[in-house]
Amino acid sequence: MTQSPSPRPAFASWLSTGNSITQQFMAIGGRPDVVSLAGGLPASEIYPVEAIAAAQERALTRWGTQILEYGAIEGLPALRAAIAERFSAATGRRFGPENVLLTTGAMQGLDLVGKTLVDPGELILSQFPTYLGALDAWRPRMPRYERLDWSLEAPGQDAALRQAKFVYAVPNYSNPTGVLVPQDQRAALLDKVEAAGTWLLEDDPYLPLQFDGPAGPSLLAHHAQRHPNGAYAGPVIYLGTLSKSLAPGLRVGWVVAEASLIATLALAKQSTDIASSLLTQAIALEMIESNFEAQHIPKIVATYRERRDALCAAATTHLSDWFEWEVPPGGMFVWMRAKDEAIDTDALYTHALAENVAFVPSSVFDPSGALKSAMRVNFTRSPPEVLVEGVLRLERAVRRLLAERPGRAA
Ligand SMILES: Cc1ncc(COP(=O)(O)O)c(C=O)c1O
Repeated sequence: MTQSPSPRPAFASWLSTGNSITQQFMAIGGRPDVVSLAGGLPASEIYPVEAIAAAQERALTRWGTQILEYGAIEGLPALRAAIAERFSAATGRRFGPENVLLTTGAMQGLDLVGKTLVDPGELILSQFPTYLGALDAWRPRMPRYERLDWSLEAPGQDAALRQAKFVYAVPNYSNPTGVLVPQDQRAALLDKVEAAGTWLLEDDPYLPLQFDGPAGPSLLAHHAQRHPNGAYAGPVIYLGTLSKSLAPGLRVGWVVAEASLIATLALAKQSTDIASSLLTQAIALEMIESNFEAQHIPKIVATYRERRDALCAAATTHLSDWFEWEVPPGGMFVWMRAKDEAIDTDALYTHALAENVAFVPSSVFDPSGALKSAMRVNFTRSPPEVLVEGVLRLERAVRRLLAERPGRAA
């Protein structure tokens, strides 16, 4: 019998499970008997199916076979220009197409930044808990991690900033915590990043999902306002996407950064997928130019706000003896922290599945796996009555967990 070659050691432990944690949660989300509060998925019933079909027809009429080719690595020039224009308008300084790389979702931006900037053993300074997809994207690069403290007061932050290849931040309605980072902390981080001479990767997929007022300027906008003249040059590498405002299946995302870094990322992209789909980029362009995206966002926001409120109200009644949380001002998730040290959310997860409800335990959002006392609960995918049922099932799961602990009353 011939033996298969083994993958590189960095991949081996990861791939040996056969499927990733993300795939496991996606699979649970597909089971009709389970209320899944686990995924990070938009509400599919508000995907704009007809508008996408009409945009595709217009795009094919406009571009013909051009958008069925491989196309430029950097993406459809007209969409690059439209995204550059969006950032010029939002930041008050000029960005050009040379500052934009179109990617297959923001996820590809994470992958390309890891490939381009990080060698094994190098440091990434990241907020924790953090996005599981970023940890997955960078695992093959074998980085070290340290925790970014947004107050910048934790011991060793200055040294970590100097050593880090980049700082990873999700300031708007972070995944998994839903936190909106205050503007003064953004400005202070940028001061430190500029002084340390490192990169600052700003991942901003949740920007459109602002429920309780504006999110305020991005880190990129802060930097642009400080340096308003000339070609854009600076430490901020900004990732955006249409996954939350239109549909994740379009797989249209972008990196905005200084032109020389965009050129390097484009080289890395070429060896990854040659080019992203020009067809979906052309659809996206139609939807941006016709202002459809801007008009569609308020509908999504109204739907998600109602769902957030339904989930939080039910949780206040049924879970607040054991968990605490802040109501997120945007995004897709409530981050529930256990008040009782007997609640280990990895253990709770088994009981939750027995009750046909799923959430994401906190351990997956930390590379050490040590964070066991919280859970990420999604409120965007299901209507209010299903969310309430999910919370009732979670309550039963907590009671089961506590009942198996000797001396603890449920
Ligand atoms: C923080 C964060 N970054 C990036 C992504 C990936 O987004 P995209 O669908 O554009 O690849 C997600 C997806 O939910 C996310 O939560």
